[in-house]
Amino acid sequence: MGTILVTGGAGFIGSNFVHHLVEHSDHRVVVLDKLTYAASASSLDVLPGERVELVQGDVADASLVDDLVQSSDAVVHFAAETHNDNSLADPSPFVRTNLVGTYTLLEAVRRHSVRFHHISTDEVFGDLEYDDPAKFTESTPYNPSSPYSSTKGGSDLLVRAWVRSFGIDATLSNCSNNYGPYQHIEKFIPRQITNVLTGRRPKLYGEGRNVRDWIHVADHSAAVELILDRGARGQTYLIGADGERDNITVLRTILRLMGRPEDEFDHVRDRPGHDLRYAIDSSRLREELGWEPQHQDFESGLTATIEWYQENRQWWEEQKAAVETGYAEAGQ
Ligand code: NAD
Ligand code: TYD
Repeated sequence: MGTILVTGGAGFIGSNFVHHLVEHSDHRVVVLDKLTYAASASSLDVLPGERVELVQGDVADASLVDDLVQSSDAVVHFAAETHNDNSLADPSPFVRTNLVGTYTLLEAVRRHSVRFHHISTDEVFGDLEYDDPAKFTESTPYNPSSPYSSTKGGSDLLVRAWVRSFGIDATLSNCSNNYGPYQHIEKFIPRQITNVLTGRRPKLYGEGRNVRDWIHVADHSAAVELILDRGARGQTYLIGADGERDNITVLRTILRLMGRPEDEFDHVRDRPGHDLRYAIDSSRLREELGWEPQHQDFESGLTATIEWYQENRQWWEEQKAAVETGYAEAGQ
C-alpha cells in the first residue's frame, strides 16, 4: 500500500490501469497528465476521489515532476505521444515528451530513490516478415521504423542506462497492440467502430495484410501490476497474448459483429514505412512471474469493445468529425 504516480493516466492504457489499481489494490493513485488531445479526464470520473487525484502537468516539467515523485512510493510511466501517423506529420512533441519527459522522470526517481516502471511498445524492434517463424524476445535488437517507435526505443535505452550507471530501481515492459474501452478514436479499432456507428465507411491502409498482435488492455494492466510488485530490478518483460491477426481480418470481423457486409470499407493511402508484422514471445513473463492472459477470446473482447463505444457516445462523438477531417486531408 502506498501512493503510485501514474503518468499518462488520462490516456487509453493509463486510465485502464488506474481503474485496475482501484479495483485490485489499496494503493492511492496520483495521475500526472498533460491532458493533450489524446487524453480524457472523464475516463477517471467514475473513480472515487479519495483514491485517485488528477494533476494536470507535463512530464518534462522538472520541478513539478520532482515534487510528485518525492511524495510517491512508485512511478508507472505511460505518458507519451503515441500515434505513428501523427509522428510522421510532426515528430517534435514525440522527441520532447517521449525522450525529454522520460529523462526528467528518471532524474527525479534517481534523486529520491523511488521505484520506477517504464511502459514501452514492441514497435521498438521494428517489424518481422510475414513468414518469419521468429517472434520478438527480450534480446531482439532494436530497429525502430518511425519517429514514434524510435523515441520510445530511445526512452527504453535511457531507463536501462539509468539502471546500470545510477542503480535506479526500474523495470521495463514492451507490449503489443492493445484494444478495449477508452481508446482514442484515431487508432485502428475504435476508428472503424465509430465510422460504422456514424454511417461512415471504415478505412483500411493499403491491402491490409499488415499483422498486429492484439492484446486486451485488461491483460496489459494485470501484467504491469505484477511486474511492479515482483519484477526483477533492471529487467525487461515482453507482454503479448498470442493475438496475431492481419488488419483486413480484424476489419471484416468488426463489420460482421456490427451487422454490416464484410466488404463495406474503403482502401486508403498506405502509411509510409508501414511495419509489416509484430509478434511477441512473452515466455519470460509467463515463466518467471506466472502471468497468463485472461481475455484471449478476441471476438468476445471486440464485441464488448463495440458495445462500449455504442453506449458511451458522449465520450468520443464530439471529436469524430475533426479526426476524420484530419485523416481525409492526409488521404486516409
Ligand atoms: P494515449 O495516447 O491514449 O495516452 C497518452 C497519455 O499521455 C494522454 O493522456 C496524454 O495526455 C498523456 N501525455 C502526453 N504527453 C504528455 C506529457 N508531456 N506530460 C504528461 N502527460 C502527457 O496512449 P496509450 O495508447 O494509452 O499508450 C500509453 C503508453 O503505452 C505509451 O507509453 C505507449 O507507448 C505504450 N504502449 C501503447 C500500446 C497501444 O497499443 N496503444 C502498446 C504498447 C505500448
Ligand atoms: P494503429 O492503431 O495506428 O496502431 P500501430 O500503428 O501502433 O500499430 O494501427 C494499427 C494497424 O492498423 C496499422 O497496421 C495501421 C492500420 N490502420 C488502418 O488500416 N486504418 C486506419 O484507419 C488506422 C488508424 C490504422
